[in-house]
Amino acid sequence: MKDFAGKIAFISGGASGAGLGQAKLFSAEGMKVAIADVRQAALDSAVEELVVYGAKREDILAIRLDLTDRAAYAAAADKVEKVFGGPPHLLIQTAGVNSFGPAEASTFEDFDWVMGVCLGAVVNGLVIFVPRMIKAYAGKTACHVATTSSLGAFTAGATTAPYSAAKAAVNNLMYSYYEALKPYGFGATVLCPANINSNIGEAERHRPEKYRNTGYNVTDKTIGLLKSIHAEGMDPIVLARWLKEAIENEQVVCVPYDNSQEILEREFKTVIYYSSPEGMKRLHEQDELREKEFEEMMKNVPREDVGFGKARSDLNWVAASRKF
Ligand code: NAI
Repeated sequence: MKDFAGKIAFISGGASGAGLGQAKLFSAEGMKVAIADVRQAALDSAVEELVVYGAKREDILAIRLDLTDRAAYAAAADKVEKVFGGPPHLLIQTAGVNSFGPAEASTFEDFDWVMGVCLGAVVNGLVIFVPRMIKAYAGKTACHVATTSSLGAFTAGATTAPYSAAKAAVNNLMYSYYEALKPYGFGATVLCPANINSNIGEAERHRPEKYRNTGYNVTDKTIGLLKSIHAEGMDPIVLARWLKEAIENEQVVCVPYDNSQEILEREFKTVIYYSSPEGMKRLHEQDELREKEFEEMMKNVPREDVGFGKARSDLNWVAASRKF
């Protein structure tokens, strides 16, 4: 997909962070942009930000939606068609939440919440929108489906199990959709950033009541630390530019850094190492490198022990604290 002007975009999580950056960039390209998000106040302020950024108010459609609610998601798709005259040409699924703590302390609620938004909602978007896009545009207009995943999709972490598992599945899903959508002339891209300057550090504050039972150590301090880490992340507009370029180039994976090939080779090496006795010996060298990078990432972040990476205090059988 190379022409964006006059076409329709649907951006999940478009009220904040990476999604709002994408909404700004693609509306500046002349697209009609629907943003869907669960937080009404964030949607309201996003609309104002988009207008200040230059978007025409009539070209923005803000939809309050819990993306895990399939009936509500389908109704939102109907609304996009009604207001903008058709389904999106560009579907960008960016909404996400994170929650970190030792894998072995994870509750069903930790898995259900994080995987429900980061994976389940992406499945919902694909099942709801892709058939509509094919029926409306196949053979006539170029279309594209994109999902914001994470660099964490390629490997795993002791304290990131639900998130890493969801993102790994999303990557694979997008490779499948890339293959499946070729005959229609549609493209697919999965965006895999490391750190974004966004509000995801506060996701825990919006965790729905039914998922409140967490095994992780969630406090104001751990949330504060996450916020400081994300404050060091990539600007959402810069990230959106990487995505746009990847879409234009029909690129399936977008790792938004100049040394993306080097990064990917290292990530895949971990799996290669996992799979041989010699590799298992070399893993610790890689761990040392990761440790150094973590220190680099944290160099501007206050370094008190806030218990980030620990389990809930009553889970006293869980091993000592981990950094990430
Ligand atoms: P953000 O918190 O600023 O934006 C995410 C949006 O998703 C929020 O506005 C939130 O309300 C919305 N959302 C959450 N649950 C929802 C639901 N059930 N229904 C509808 N909307 C929902 O965070 P950010 O960082 O911009 O996140 C965007 C994507 O980027 C996510 O998929 C995240 O996993 C991914 N990512 C973020 C990184 C970071 O460092 N912030 C790094 C790598 C990937």
